[in-house]
Formats: sequence, C-alpha cells, structure tokens
Amino acid sequence: MVGWSWTKLSNMRSLDQIIEAEEQTFLRRVPKSVALHERASLSIPGGVPSSWASSRPTPVWVSHGEGAYVWDVDDNQYIDFHAGYGANIVGHANPSVVAAVQKRVTQGTHFAQPTPDSIVVAEELSRRFGLPQWRFCNSGTEATMDAVHLMRAITGRDLIIKVEGSYNGHHDSVAISIFRSAQELGPADKPWLTPGAGIPQAIADCVRIVPFNDIDALRHVLAEYDGQIAGMIFEPILMGAGIIVPQPGYLAAVKKLVHQHGALLTFDEVKTGLVIHQGGATAMYGVTPDIICLAKALGGGLPCGAIGGTTEVMSAIANGSYSQVGTFNGNPLTMAATKAVLTEVLTDDAYAQANDVGAYILKHAVSTLQSRGQGAHGYQFGFKVSVVFCAEPAKNYRDFLEVSTGAMHLNYLKQFNRGVFLAPWGKSESLTLSVAHTRAHGDVFLQNLSQLAEVIESMSERNSEVFVAGSFN
Ligand SMILES: Cc1ncc(COP(=O)(O)O)c(C=O)c1O
Repeated sequence: MVGWSWTKLSNMRSLDQIIEAEEQTFLRRVPKSVALHERASLSIPGGVPSSWASSRPTPVWVSHGEGAYVWDVDDNQYIDFHAGYGANIVGHANPSVVAAVQKRVTQGTHFAQPTPDSIVVAEELSRRFGLPQWRFCNSGTEATMDAVHLMRAITGRDLIIKVEGSYNGHHDSVAISIFRSAQELGPADKPWLTPGAGIPQAIADCVRIVPFNDIDALRHVLAEYDGQIAGMIFEPILMGAGIIVPQPGYLAAVKKLVHQHGALLTFDEVKTGLVIHQGGATAMYGVTPDIICLAKALGGGLPCGAIGGTTEVMSAIANGSYSQVGTFNGNPLTMAATKAVLTEVLTDDAYAQANDVGAYILKHAVSTLQSRGQGAHGYQFGFKVSVVFCAEPAKNYRDFLEVSTGAMHLNYLKQFNRGVFLAPWGKSESLTLSVAHTRAHGDVFLQNLSQLAEVIESMSERNSEVFVAGSFN
C-alpha cells in the first residue's frame, strides 16, 4: 500500500483530490481490466499472479506488446517504461528473440539435459562480467538463494550481511527488514531484524544489516562478528529506492574489508546486470565480486537467472560440495532466448542508443521539474533512468524514505492516463528503456511530466510549504 504525507493538512486534501480525480479517470479507461480483476479475485488471491502486480487503483491487464509499446485489454496503447519491472530491455516481441524461441519451441523445450546454447551464454557472460564460470536458474530469487548457500557452504559460517533497503528476492535468508517505514527500521546503528511473514526469527537472526555507503558501519559489524560472517550480498547500485549510487571507492573498500575477514562478496545484479551497462555495475565500476547474481533482463522476457563465480567459488559446485540444482535450470527455451539477447540484441550500438535517449530524458525531466520550483535529481545508466522528486540525492535507504510518495504516485497516474506506462511503485522504481525506445517516446513522458510540474507549482503557490515527506504504510 502506498501512502503519502504533506507538511500541511490543507495540502494533503489538495493532493488527495487530485489523485482521486486521476484514479477515477484511470478506472474509466480500463473497464475490462476492472472486470477481469473482479473475476480473477475469485480464483487467484488478490486477483494477480504475483503480489508485485497489485497496484492502485487497479491492476492493468495487458493484451500484447510490440517494440516500445504495450496494449491493455481495453485496447489502450502505451509507451512502455515499466518493462515488466525492468526485465524487458529488448523491446516486446523482439524479432531476434522471437526467431530464436520459435525455432527452439519446434525442437522440444525441456529435457533436463544440457543444450549447446548454454555454453555460448556462459562464455558471453564471462566476457562481459569478468567471472569465469556460470550456472543457471529461473529467477532472481533463485540466483540470490544460490549465492547465499554458496557463501555459507564455502566458508562454513552462518551469518550474512545485507544492505538496508536492498531487496534481494523473497527467499528466507534475505527477506528480512525489507520495505519498512522509518519507524519499523529500528536504530540506525543496530537495525531491527524483522523477518517477512512466514520466515522464522531464527533465520532473521543470521542476518546483519548495514546502511549503504557506510564503510565504517560495515567495518564495525565485521569486527564484532569476526570469523562468523560467511559473506555480504547487496546491490552495487540500490535500485529499489529510486537509484542510489555508491560513493567513490565504496565498492572497492567493501570488497577489501570483506575479504580481510575471510568472507565472500556477492553483487546482486538482478536489476542492474545488462541493464545499466554491458557488464553491469561490475564492469562499470571495475570492482569484481566473488559471485554475481543475474535475472530480469537476461532472458529477454523469459524467466532466466544465473550466478557467476570465481574459479574458487564455483569449484564448490564442480566438486559436488554444493548442489546447485533445478529441473528447469538451463532450459532450452530460455537458453535460446538468452543467447539471442546477448549475441544479437544487446550490442554496443544498443547501449549507445539507450545512453543517448536516457540522457535526453533525464536532462529535460530534471530541468522541467526545477523550472516549476520542484526540487529534482536523477540518474541515467544505459537503459535505466530515475527521476526523483527531491533536490538532494539520497545516500541510503533512510534518506530515500523522505522522498514524497504521493507526488511519484501522481506521476504514475498522470502518465498512465496520457499513454505512458510506468512501473506502478513509482517511488521505488525507475524508468526502463528498451532497444526500441527513441527520444520521441521520451518526449511524451516529458510532456506529461511538464503538466504535472504545473500542478505542483500551482499547489505550492497556494500553500507556502511544499510536500517533502512520504512513507510506505
Ligand atoms: C535486486 C533484486 N534482486 C532479486 C530480485 C528477485 O528477483 P525475482 O523477482 O526474479 O525473484 C529482485 C526483484 O525485483 C531484485 O530487484
């Protein structure tokens, strides 16, 4: 559930009214989605296949996609910057992926025996990410679960360190203290270890949480639990909190410190890998961890995950001391699609175009908001653009909680009602481009943003204080 707060009650009513009006417009545009949601709610809990698809005012049911566009079941067309939570950077029905899948599907799609495409995929991932060996799975959650198992199996230690506010999937070891409000986090120097529903406290107690970009906090935890920490897992760029970048030297310092304590380092590149750069944050920042987790964009819209590791780490799999398994691992269909993604679609030219379109959107989005008195900043890397309604970039998750949730939700609604599909959880998510996106697609987003900025300006003229804070509730 998304909530928002203003510094004045009068402002809150204004924002509520505007959001209410946009939500009514939204609902009027999608009657078939509303009807499908009602029907689905009888046989599917919450009416959606994954709770991430629950969104306010109603989940949108999609009929099809092509290139940069998606169509909902009411036949409304949208420019898609949602990209299935950042998973589709090849564009919908990409011809190379379609051809690869169509060919493979006629030759059999499942044997639980390897097919040659998996070798090409592993070789290409080695080239891009600089880790020599790769195994496959089916989701980001499976990838981070394998990474945590590996770190524990290799070191023979139980404790792991994760970063506050970093979502690393929904398995027990990492679904601890995620998406919490400031009141639920506990003291900054000793955050509470709150397990997700259904996860025992005993598992949560095997986790230590440190703030992003705080090397002293990490040093302190490693010293306090010296000899007990198996490893650290985190996103090298925090992607579930807008975008929060590592401060200069932070990643290298983390690697050095973790290794000094005999622990292993995992980069969760499920969201960043292939999206922000050909070789993810690993290649972009030049810091190679012991283990890398990939998923999302890897399969070009098919469910594919992967873990890469150093020879030392992966020898634990090769020699059988850790069984990395799964019926559908290296599935022929996902491997055929992934090979096409890596060898035909995500070329250097594709990244050059994404950087051009993304930089264009970011520059104009920030200046549009600022020209109307709304503080704004953002980042752009490859296919990702984040535009945050706040002047000061956050350094960690607690800073990020200060950003207005209401303004970002209003942006989601206004964009949707004017033909642009953003990821529903506007505050946490960023824009994802695909190889099919052009500056002209960006212009539509920018026109809508300009209208929103006008509304924000007129509200802040009527009320002396502008909204500043928001929180999940
Ligand atoms: C950084 C990160 N890690 C792991 C996951 C889990 O991936 P999946 O939803 O494929 O299980 C996600 C999903 O959003 C993610 O953003």
